[in-house]
Amino acid sequence: MSQQSTYEQIGGADTVRKIVEAFYPKVQKNPVIGPLFPEDIMPVMEKQYLFLTQFFGGPMLYTEQYGHPMMRARHMPFPITESSAQAWLSCMKEALSEINMSEPLQALVLERLSGPAYHFINTAEQE
Ligand code: HEM
Repeated sequence: MSQQSTYEQIGGADTVRKIVEAFYPKVQKNPVIGPLFPEDIMPVMEKQYLFLTQFFGGPMLYTEQYGHPMMRARHMPFPITESSAQAWLSCMKEALSEINMSEPLQALVLERLSGPAYHFINTAEQE
């Protein structure tokens, strides 16, 4: 069992789909990070579905369509502060809870995403 990927542990494609569908409405409403996102969120949602699938150890869907993820570089056009990373993770926490993921799996997913979230910080906090 310990060989199972996070993707398999959380329930595969259906769960990744549920995560992104619960997550982006929260992101859009979030005062800190909502304004960074386009009104038409569907393309972002789809890319995140592809990315999280591969990030959690499922099929390499993002790379098949868009090449090397280079996620930090892809976030450089947007000013991302420590507060943005915290806001992103807090929207994710709410989304995982909304889809009724078990507490241990929520903790695993948040742990795996907090590395990249803090790694994408590229801007100092405003005074
Ligand atoms: C730290 C806080 C974060 C902020 C503020 C943020 C914000 C954004 C924004 C503004 C976009 C572009 C939307 C557009 O297309 O106009 C984006 C794209 C994306 N983000 Fe984030 N993001 C954060 C963290 C993360 C994390 C932790 C992940 C995954 C581990 C992630 C995955 C993605 C993906 C897959 C895309 C689409 C990339 C593409 O264009 O192909 N983001 N993000």
